[in-house]
Amino acid sequence: MGGFTAHAFLLATIIRSALTQQTVFDRWKDSDDIPEWTTFSRPINRVAVIGAGPSGLQAATHLLDANLTVRLFERAPSPGGNWFYTEETPVREDYPEVNSTTPDTPPKEFPATKYYEEGEDCITLDERWRAHWQPRPVWYNLRTNSPAPLTRLPGVQHNPDTPWLLSAHDLERNVRAYASLHGLNSNDEPSSPPYLPITSYATRVEAIQKSNETWTLTLRRLQWLPESRRLRSDWWTEEFDAVVVATGHFTTANIPQIKGIGNWSTAKENGQYSMIHSQSFRHPERYAGKTVLIVGASVSATHLSRIIAPFAHRLVASIRPNKYRDGYGLDILFSFAAKTEIVPEIASFEPLDGNDAGIRAGRITLVDGTILDGIDEVILATGYRTDTFLPDLVNPRTVDNLDWTGHYIHDPTLAYMFTGNPWTHAGYQGYAFAKVWTGKARLPSRERMWRDYENKKYQFGGPFDHLPQEGLRKQYVAWLNSESLELGGQFVEPLPLETRELVNYFINANHRKDYLSHENWTHFDNLPFSEWPKPPDREYKVVSW
Ligand SMILES: Cc1cc2nc3c(=O)[nH]c(=O)nc-3n(C[C@H](O)[C@H](O)[C@H](O)COP(=O)(O)OP(=O)(O)OC[C@H]3O[C@@H](n4cnc5c(N)ncnc54)[C@H](O)[C@@H]3O)c2cc1C
Ligand SMILES: NC(=O)c1ccc[n+]([C@@H]2O[C@H](COP(=O)([O-])OP(=O)(O)OC[C@H]3O[C@@H](n4cnc5c(N)ncnc54)[C@H](OP(=O)(O)O)[C@@H]3O)[C@@H](O)[C@H]2O)c1
Ligand SMILES: *[C@@H]1O[C@H](CO)[C@@H](O)[C@H](O)[C@H]1NC(C)=O
Ligand SMILES: *[C@@H]1O[C@H](CO)[C@@H](O)[C@H](O)[C@H]1NC(C)=O
Ligand SMILES: *[C@@H]1O[C@H](CO)[C@@H](O)[C@H](O)[C@H]1NC(C)=O
Ligand SMILES: *[C@@H]1O[C@H](CO)[C@@H](O)[C@H](O)[C@H]1NC(C)=O
Ligand SMILES: *[C@@H]1O[C@H](CO)[C@@H](O)[C@H](O)[C@H]1NC(C)=O
Repeated sequence: MGGFTAHAFLLATIIRSALTQQTVFDRWKDSDDIPEWTTFSRPINRVAVIGAGPSGLQAATHLLDANLTVRLFERAPSPGGNWFYTEETPVREDYPEVNSTTPDTPPKEFPATKYYEEGEDCITLDERWRAHWQPRPVWYNLRTNSPAPLTRLPGVQHNPDTPWLLSAHDLERNVRAYASLHGLNSNDEPSSPPYLPITSYATRVEAIQKSNETWTLTLRRLQWLPESRRLRSDWWTEEFDAVVVATGHFTTANIPQIKGIGNWSTAKENGQYSMIHSQSFRHPERYAGKTVLIVGASVSATHLSRIIAPFAHRLVASIRPNKYRDGYGLDILFSFAAKTEIVPEIASFEPLDGNDAGIRAGRITLVDGTILDGIDEVILATGYRTDTFLPDLVNPRTVDNLDWTGHYIHDPTLAYMFTGNPWTHAGYQGYAFAKVWTGKARLPSRERMWRDYENKKYQFGGPFDHLPQEGLRKQYVAWLNSESLELGGQFVEPLPLETRELVNYFINANHRKDYLSHENWTHFDNLPFSEWPKPPDREYKVVSW
């Protein structure tokens, strides 16, 4: 994906230089009479939604309900986002000094069509296809770490008998059922005039650019042509009045910059890499009878240890202490399988003699000087880099330049679904975008949004912080309902009160003992807005649940 990121980055730089010239930040400071509300210079009719995961599907639904003309672009061949499970794995991630992907050169003019043959530019068709849509980082027996009643989309129930820790496949069906319910699945045709296609799957948004008051999206769709064993690639552009970015958080594997890791990354045994990132893990059987080293101490590392433990001969986890862990003390959320041997952080992977005999003879030096050897397989459960779509405009870790509603303050016709909880917040967010862009909810002026942004008036913490997240929900309910009262529209509901007990029960049992009680919620109910908890600084870690 190196090529895609670089390309988007380049165009994003152009957009940024155009947009920041209109920065209003300096003006509001001196002005007494700043405008109260954002006004759009032209009506908003055509809206693009990028991403058909739980967030993008809800945004598209609300925008369609508001009678806007919607186009939903998704690089994967089907909806589901993170939950679209396949046996296909992502193309090999880049390691220090070892780049695996070769970028495709975009054409100079649009539209354009190109056919690819097997092995062209030394890339197999299969690799080209997987690089295009990026198979998901989900393994076969993954279960959710969020409870079923709060991990589903509106209007689509789980089987009442479903365990609370949902299988990824059940959740995939839930998300895809929601897509079907709203006519957004991959085979759905629009059922009402003007019968223009809404969805475009296997279509990657390559770049977006604002000019002439509209957003131009550069699009690329790949199609298999099985009869001729070729891939067809179409590039084209479309114009929009507004854009919703719902591209998710877990796309680029984070490969730690450990000395010698590039050397180890090329080693294979029986044609398979001995070192993988957790995004490519699918089944534990491959680890039968082996000595496995897992790097990392978070949700992926611990979950994988529990899945692999019954198969592996020996299981080792290399972890480092951090602010969430007191020394190496781990709570329920981060619990390794009992047989896991915990060792310190890795200082270096010592050079291997060759790259076709695996890594068993290799030596790993730990930070305390101990040598670890006899390892057959390494799984890097080291998380994801927080780069995202148009990283130059909006850093997802710091949510730069975004109002609390997700609108890009420099130009509120661009909006991000970034809150991290796609089940309970994305519905409010999508409804809000639809209302704002059809004039049914007023968005504060850019000057006021900047002022609130600077004084951190609306900061609600990361999605793991249940109480600040409750603050965000309250803010949505209060704002949207007051706008509906003023300008028309349906009221939105807060989460039912009984979900508090459900969250307490689930968190205390599965994540952290005695972490939440009813009083935590009622205490929060009684706090005035000015005293709502804020995250310590603008940085927050994107974690779900
Ligand atoms: C291993 C793992 C386990 C998880 N477990 C849980 C859990 O138990 N509970 C929970 O609540 N959350 C969990 N999550 C978080 C998960 O991200 C959310 O549940 C949810 O999928 C987020 O929805 P989303 O729509 O915002 O993003 P996503 O589901 O990631 O969807 C984003 C979509 O945008 C598409 N896209 C991206 N870029 C482009 C582009 N340029 N052009 C076109 N399309 C594009 C992607 O293909 C993708 O389909 C987990 C995440 C991971 C990685
Ligand atoms: N449903 C599920 O059960 C499930 C399963 C897997 C993942 N998920 C979700 O997926 C998301 C990502 O989780 P994740 O566990 O893949 O990533 P993560 O939470 O970002 O954790 C990455 C881990 O790698 C460690 N790490 C990073 N660089 C390292 C280095 N150089 N040396 C040693 N350790 C290093 C980190 O340590 P530090 O903390 O010290 O940085 C951390 O322990 C989360 O939202 C999670 O909830 C859910
Ligand atoms: C690998 O790719 C990165 C950007 O994706 C680039 O900066 C770097 O120079 C490349 N390295 C090699 C060895 O090709
Ligand atoms: C959308 O259009 C339909 C059909 O014209 C109409 O019944 C409905 O009220 C409209 N919805 C909104 C939110 O304007
Ligand atoms: C912008 O508008 C001008 C004048 O109408 C036109 O010549 C130009 O092609 C347009 N540019 C884009 C990118 O649409
Ligand atoms: C690792 O480095 C050694 C010494 O430089 C070299 O001989 C070997 O081929 C490298 N191995 C791999 C797998 O790159
Ligand atoms: C819940 O309330 C207790 C008692 O006031 C407090 O110590 C604890 O920090 C609160 N928990 C959270 C998650 O806010």
